[in-house]
Amino acid sequence: MKVVVIGGTGLIGSKLVTKLGEQGHEAVPAAPETGVDTLTGEGLTEVLKDASVVVDVSNSPSFADDDVMHFFRTSTTHLLRAEAGAGVAHHVVLSVVGTERLQDSGYFRAKQAQEELVRASGVPFSIVHATQFFEFLKGITDAATDGDTVRLAPVGIRPVHSDDVAAAVCRTALGPPAGGVVEVTGPESFQLDELVRDSLAAEGDPRRVVADPEAPYFGARLGRTTLLPGPGARPGGTRIADWAARQR
Ligand SMILES: NC(=O)c1ccc[n+]([C@@H]2O[C@H](COP(=O)([O-])OP(=O)(O)OC[C@H]3O[C@@H](n4cnc5c(N)ncnc54)[C@H](OP(=O)(O)O)[C@@H]3O)[C@@H](O)[C@H]2O)c1
Repeated sequence: MKVVVIGGTGLIGSKLVTKLGEQGHEAVPAAPETGVDTLTGEGLTEVLKDASVVVDVSNSPSFADDDVMHFFRTSTTHLLRAEAGAGVAHHVVLSVVGTERLQDSGYFRAKQAQEELVRASGVPFSIVHATQFFEFLKGITDAATDGDTVRLAPVGIRPVHSDDVAAAVCRTALGPPAGGVVEVTGPESFQLDELVRDSLAAEGDPRRVVADPEAPYFGARLGRTTLLPGPGARPGGTRIADWAARQR
């Protein structure tokens, strides 16, 4: 089966292309460096020829509010239009657990707009919602840093390894369209400020973590369960301590 992976050179996309190939599928990575640009539409008609499934794991190069909204609106519109023309049978998109609860954030407003375009497109679809990747905790920490202080809300977080996300997206892409959201998460829950405090200490990073219930998360205020998945989420097997030990 031919599966086109939009963003197939990125963190999740490259792992997904490998996994699909290992299972005997023709996995085609699509990104600007392979001649496919969803923002302009360049290369889309050609790459989608004979594709059964399209997986969108692309991301905006800029997270500024207007840029990210422009990226997900424009690229998703181009992509879904091209898929309808090519007769693609399943569109899979990777989004974030809690997107609908994080609408004070420009990034999550753009992800919500992306999901709404997918739902309205008429192309059979699955939306995979993942919790925060282990690899993204550094980005969360840096975004919350002011000088030597990291201000984070004391809320629940259940991060997941990118390998486990790629495996879940792969499973979804090879199955029937869910017509809704499938959640994937990690095996353990933490409190965000405590997790970051322990990670920084383990790395010898001198930054101080302050628990602040008002601290914004990419512009949104968090409740205790905003970032947590529902009870039906499929847990990945990789524990963060094992991953961190391997990183070190
Ligand atoms: N980070 C998290 O914790 C988290 C949690 C849940 C869900 N997600 C979602 O997961 C998705 C993938 O994240 P990721 O970290 O794997 O992304 P990533 O590593 O930043 O990769 C993004 C991919 O998109 C491609 N891309 C950028 N502009 C493009 C364009 N105009 N046309 C086609 N492709 C383009 C990039 O290609 P180039 O490298 O060539 O630019 C790259 O292959 C995102 O949509 C994100 O919302 C993330």
